[in-house]
Amino acid sequence: MNLHKQVTTTALLLMLFATVGAAIVGLTYDSTAEQIEINHKRILLQRLNTIMPPERYDNDLLRDKITIAADPLLGLKQDDTAYIATLKGKPVGVVLPAVAPNGYNGSIYLLVGIYADGRIAGVRITEHRETPGLGDAIESNRSDWIYSFNGKSLTNPGKKKWKVKRDGGVFDQFTGATISPRAVVKAVRSALVYFEQHRDDLFKTDRQEPA
Ligand SMILES: Cc1cc2nc3c(=O)[nH]c(=O)nc-3n(C[C@H](O)[C@H](O)[C@H](O)COP(=O)(O)O)c2cc1C
Repeated sequence: MNLHKQVTTTALLLMLFATVGAAIVGLTYDSTAEQIEINHKRILLQRLNTIMPPERYDNDLLRDKITIAADPLLGLKQDDTAYIATLKGKPVGVVLPAVAPNGYNGSIYLLVGIYADGRIAGVRITEHRETPGLGDAIESNRSDWIYSFNGKSLTNPGKKKWKVKRDGGVFDQFTGATISPRAVVKAVRSALVYFEQHRDDLFKTDRQEPA
């Protein structure tokens, strides 16, 4: 084989390897991206189901999501997503995003589940930077505190009692950490006020957007 032929063969082989390699990487990326998306959805639904009990609704919560506009009552500076739960076509609850801007270390991000009658179905913290061992007891895997919202509404307790005990309300604070629970209590109550003001709009079926 002369030199020219050898170079051409090597170049062609390299091209072939590069093409096959790129195709494999591309295919792997596509299937991985799809799997990541499926996993994200599964984890999100699991989380939503800890807030809105799955036996209370029969729709596809991830499909029946709506975009809600930025709103100071929810502490949202930009549009976000809410999930509408329905049973036999009738709205039974919503999971709202909310932000408590005044945590000890900045914003605390929440999901607030509210039944159609205005009672709290459940609350979970989705993101925060509160101090481990102090403010992080707002998390469900650190303490039971977050469950104290279950069943509460704007009338139970009344407005003056929607506070931590230190401020004359009904919700516990933590030893040496009042700022984090105070911020969360305020944000949850504000989410209830938002719900009261936007209930009809949230539950309008023609506002639901397909995924
Ligand atoms: C390093 C450090 C980290 C703290 N982190 C938190 C926190 O994450 N959440 C909180 O509520 N308080 C936190 N605190 C305590 C607050 O500064 C404040 O003293 C407390 O929330 C007030 O609660 P108390 O009135 O029960 O003492 C922290 C304090 C220090 C010194």
